[in-house]
Amino acid sequence: MGFKVTPWEVEGEVDYDKLIKEFGTSPLTDDILERVKKITGELHPFLRRKIFFSHRDFDWILDMYEKGVPFAIYTGRGPSGHTHLGHMMPWIFCQYLQERFDVNMYFQITDDEKFMHRRELTLEKTRHYGYDNALDFVALGFDPEKTFIFSDIDYAKTLYGIAVKIAKNVTFSTVKAVFGFTNSTNIGMIFFPAIQGVPCFLPSELEKRKAPVLIPAAIDQDPYWRVTRDVAEKLGYYKPAAIHNIFFPSLEGPSGKMSASVGQSAIFTVDTPEKVRKKVMNAFTGGRETVEEQKKLGGNPQVCTVFQYFYFLFEPDDAKLEERKAACKSGELLCGYCKKELADRLVIYVREHQEKREKAKKVLDQFLLKD
Ligand code: TYM
Repeated sequence: MGFKVTPWEVEGEVDYDKLIKEFGTSPLTDDILERVKKITGELHPFLRRKIFFSHRDFDWILDMYEKGVPFAIYTGRGPSGHTHLGHMMPWIFCQYLQERFDVNMYFQITDDEKFMHRRELTLEKTRHYGYDNALDFVALGFDPEKTFIFSDIDYAKTLYGIAVKIAKNVTFSTVKAVFGFTNSTNIGMIFFPAIQGVPCFLPSELEKRKAPVLIPAAIDQDPYWRVTRDVAEKLGYYKPAAIHNIFFPSLEGPSGKMSASVGQSAIFTVDTPEKVRKKVMNAFTGGRETVEEQKKLGGNPQVCTVFQYFYFLFEPDDAKLEERKAACKSGELLCGYCKKELADRLVIYVREHQEKREKAKKVLDQFLLKD
C-alpha cells in the first residue's frame, strides 16, 4: 500500500524505513544514543523507543557540543486550530533537550503559512491560534531566560531580512520538486519555505556567533530543512541539523496520523474529561469481535491505537509496557478495561496540562520576540 508524507498531509500507512531512503536522512543508531546517554545521564523514552528514529547531522551537533560549542534548538507550530498530543511530541522532547543540554530554544509560529495554505482560515484566526498554541508550549516548562517565541507576522521585520537572502538562492523548480507545488499554488506558499528556513539562521544573528541549530520535529517537516541546508553555507551559516519523530497515530486506526482536522482522531489539550473518555472508548483497538474470542485468542497490540498511546506517552516504564502487551496477547487483558485505564491517565494528564496552560497565560509575554 502506498503512502504520502508532505508538510501538509500524511496519507496511508507510513513505511519509515522507506521514508529515510526517500528523504535521504539517516537512521538514529544505537551508537548515537549511547553518546546522548553519556551526556544526559538517561535516555528519554522517545529515544529508547525510537519514536525519534531519524536525523540529519545530529552526530555533528554532539561533536560540537563536546567541543564546547552549544547548539540552539528550533521548532514550531502552524496554528490552524487547537494543539493535539501529536504536536506536543517534539515539544516535550525539546524541553528535555533544553534541560539536559542547557541551551537556547526558538519557537516559530507560522500564522502566515496556515493563513495562506488554508482557504477557510482568516489571518485573525491563525494569529489567535498561534498565541493560544504557544501556551501549550510554555506549559511544558521551558526556561523563560533561554526560550524565544515569535509569530511570523509580529516578528516579520527581523525575519524578512534573512528570508530574502534565502529566497534569492532557491529556485521555483527546486520548491516545485521538493514540495510538489504546481501552477495553481498561491505565490505566498511558494515563498514560504524561505520563512520557515529563517529560524535556522536566526540564532546566529541574535547570539552574534555562528550557531549550530538542531530541529526536533516530525519527519513531515524535513523538506524545509533540505532546502535550507542547501543554501546555508553560501550565506555563511552552518547547515541546520534535524532529529525526526514518527507520527502519533490517529485514534481511528493504525494508518493515518493524529490530525487536527479530524476531531475524533486526536486528543486536544483543551478537551474536557468527558470528551477525552468518549474518544478513548470509541478508539480502534486490536481486540476481537467478542469477549469469548478475545479470552481464547488474545488481542493484537500491534494494530491497537490504545496500546500505541501507552507506548508513546502513557507508560514510560518499559517493563510495565511489556506486561501490558503480554496480557493483551494472552487474552487476559480485555479492551474495555485497558481503555478505561488509558482514559483515567489521559484525563489526569490533560487536567494537569490545562492547569499549567492557565499559568502560562501570565508569563507568555516574557517569552515573546516582537519587532
Ligand atoms: P504543525 O503545526 O503541522 O505541527 C507542529 C509539530 O508537530 C509535528 N506533528 C506531529 N508529531 C507527531 N505526531 C503527529 N500526529 C504530528 N502532527 C504534527 C510536526 O512535525 C511539527 O513538528 N510548518 C510547521 C510549523 C513550523 C515548524 C518549524 C515545525 C515552523 N517552523 C520548525 C517544526 C520545526 C507546521 O505547520 O507544523
